[in-house]
Amino acid sequence: MTTTYAPLDYRSDTVTRPTEAMRRAMAAAPVGDDVLEEDPTVQRLEAVAAERFGHEAALFVPTGTMANLIAVALHCQRGDELICERRTHTFAYEGTGAAALLGVSFNVTDTADGILTPEWVHKLTRPDDIHCPVTKLLVVENTANTAGGRIVSLERMAALAGAARAHRLNLHIDGARIFNASVAAGVPVADWAKLADTVSFCLSKGLGAPVGSVIVGPREAMKRARRWRKMFGGGMRQVGIVAAAGLYALENNVARLADDHALATSLAAALGETLDGRFSVQAPETNILLVHTDSKETTGRAVAAWQARGILCLALKDTMIRFVTHMDLPVDAVTQTVERIKTAGV
Ligand SMILES: Cc1ncc(COP(=O)(O)O)c(C=O)c1O
Repeated sequence: MTTTYAPLDYRSDTVTRPTEAMRRAMAAAPVGDDVLEEDPTVQRLEAVAAERFGHEAALFVPTGTMANLIAVALHCQRGDELICERRTHTFAYEGTGAAALLGVSFNVTDTADGILTPEWVHKLTRPDDIHCPVTKLLVVENTANTAGGRIVSLERMAALAGAARAHRLNLHIDGARIFNASVAAGVPVADWAKLADTVSFCLSKGLGAPVGSVIVGPREAMKRARRWRKMFGGGMRQVGIVAAAGLYALENNVARLADDHALATSLAAALGETLDGRFSVQAPETNILLVHTDSKETTGRAVAAWQARGILCLALKDTMIRFVTHMDLPVDAVTQTVERIKTAGV
């Protein structure tokens, strides 16, 4: 007899589904045509976001990828270059849209912890030489997703912002999970945001909304961002119905991210005790937990065996498996995970 396991879905915090209360807020939202700037719920979300991040204005966009692409369009022209760590989402997971669609090249490097240092900003910035592209933008991800949900501390961000200014680069923070950083570090998002020219964040990840991201920045830049969003096909009509989920998330789902972080920490401890010497568990700082393995074979066997027991996780590299905790996991997720892994026999 085969046992069917209820899925424990650790692939990403993007798998969260809107709760009944969030759906009710969506159903009740007043709406209008947002391309004509007549959707009151979108306007409220943008006002709340701008205020929360301490910037002049905000723009609601469909995805984090579009938010980052718009940021590149705001700060760079065709032939310019942006710099970032190699694991940065904009470079690694967005089809290099900045290069393909905007003609902006990337200059990247690996660092030990997945986050650039001021020295690297200095090294990666091109000299004023007609043979080189003009370096215009520094992109920093907070939290740094595939580095293990690492927090870029305020001090480090300030140092990076200082280095960027010294080289006349603009700074865009990809804050897809900046609320995770904020809750874990006890730092208001505005403290990071004031160091940056633009910041984007996702409502559709740990915050639990089904769709949506927001970019914040100066009013003039957000006016240009609206034009880019339209050009990219992201001008949406009665989208207050979706923005309402974002507003609900900002009002109700931020503080509870601490539960996701606690879950990741207990999962790390439990996996550390359960897995053998082929695995090494990286201590999580937020809701992303990385398990490093000794080989591609171990990774493949583990992911497949765990999947057969309903534990879904992602092999992000040959020797790296990612678990992401979120609000849709059951309270006894750790116990269930360990019990199933013990019988999986990798
Ligand atoms: C750090 C980071 N930035 C940007 C994105 C892109 O968000 P979206 O999937 O909404 O395009 C993601 C998505 O996983 C992400 O992890």
